[in-house]
Amino acid sequence: MPELYYDHHAFCCTNRRPDGHERGCCVSKGGERLRNYMKKRAKEMGLPSTRINGAGCLDRCEMGPCIVIYPEGVWYAPQNEADIDEILVTYLQQGKRVERLVLPPRAADE
Ligand code: FES
Repeated sequence: MPELYYDHHAFCCTNRRPDGHERGCCVSKGGERLRNYMKKRAKEMGLPSTRINGAGCLDRCEMGPCIVIYPEGVWYAPQNEADIDEILVTYLQQGKRVERLVLPPRAADE
């Protein structure tokens, strides 16, 4: 495996769809606001080798707002700024998953 460029790389869905779309979108559930907050807080905390990026649709729209963080590839669905703080401190700083916010593995019908 090649050496990692970032220790942690988070992709936050900031996809927007028109109101009433059958799949909804992460922006309508706060995805863009939460990405901006996560980026700002990660910088303020001085998290080393951590990158927070916006992303297009991650195709788990109904479960959003979605964030996936590599290299583990763990998926989170934070609902508010307090959830983002918990992910930053517990997962990115302390290395422990925030189980209550983790999205389940892919279902058979996905
Ligand atoms: S709109 Fe966010 S996962 Fe599809």
